[in-house]
Amino acid sequence: MTILHIDSSINGDNSASRAISARIVDQLKGLDWGEEVIYRDLAAEPLAHLTLDAFADTSVLDEFLASDTVVIGAPMYNFTLPTQLKAWIDRIVIAGTTFRYTENGPEGLAKGKRVIIALARGGIYDVGSPAAALEHLESYLRGVFNFIGIEPEFVAADGLAISPEVRESAIANALGETIRLAA
Ligand SMILES: Cc1cc2nc3c(=O)[nH]c(=O)nc-3n(C[C@H](O)[C@H](O)[C@H](O)COP(=O)(O)O)c2cc1C
Repeated sequence: MTILHIDSSINGDNSASRAISARIVDQLKGLDWGEEVIYRDLAAEPLAHLTLDAFADTSVLDEFLASDTVVIGAPMYNFTLPTQLKAWIDRIVIAGTTFRYTENGPEGLAKGKRVIIALARGGIYDVGSPAAALEHLESYLRGVFNFIGIEPEFVAADGLAISPEVRESAIANALGETIRLAA
C-alpha cells in the first residue's frame, strides 16, 4: 500500500496542518500494511500555476493514481486553500482520467482511494457561526474529491488565531482525533 503525504503550509515547523498530517501518517504507518510513503511538500517545492503545456507532464497525476491513501495538510488562507495546493488539485482533476461527463452528469473515476485531510483554520466556521459563509476550504476540498469519486475524511484544528490557549487545545484535540482514523 502506498501513502501519498502532501503538505502545503508556508509556516514550516510552526504549522498546525503539518503537525496533524504527520501524525495521521504516523498512525497509518502503525497499521500493519508495509506502506510506502511518498512525501510532497508543495511549499518547499511549489508546482507552477497551471498552463496548457503543464498538462503534458502527468507525473503529479501518476503519483496520485498510484497511491492507495492520500494525506493532505491543508491550512486556510484567505478563506480557502493555499494556491500551492490548488496547483496540485489542478493536476489531478483531469477529464477522462479522474472524472468524466456522462449523459447522467459527471462521474468520478478515482474511486477506491482513502483521502484524509488535516485542516487548520485561524477562525471558526461551524454551521450557524458568523463566518460560516466564508468557509471555502473544507467545502471546496469535499466537493472536488466527491467530484472525482472520493469521500474525504477530515481532522480539523479550528480557532487557532483566537488565543494561544485555544490554539494549543485545538491542535491537541486534532492530534488525538488522528487515533480514531487508524482504528
Ligand atoms: C496568509 C494567511 C492567510 C490566512 N487566512 C485565514 C483566513 O482567511 N481564515 C482563517 O480562519 N484563518 C486564516 N489564516 C490563519 C491560518 O488558517 C492559521 O494560522 C492556520 O494555523 C494555518 O495553518 P498552518 O498552521 O498549517 O500554516 C491565515 C494565515 C495566513 C498565513
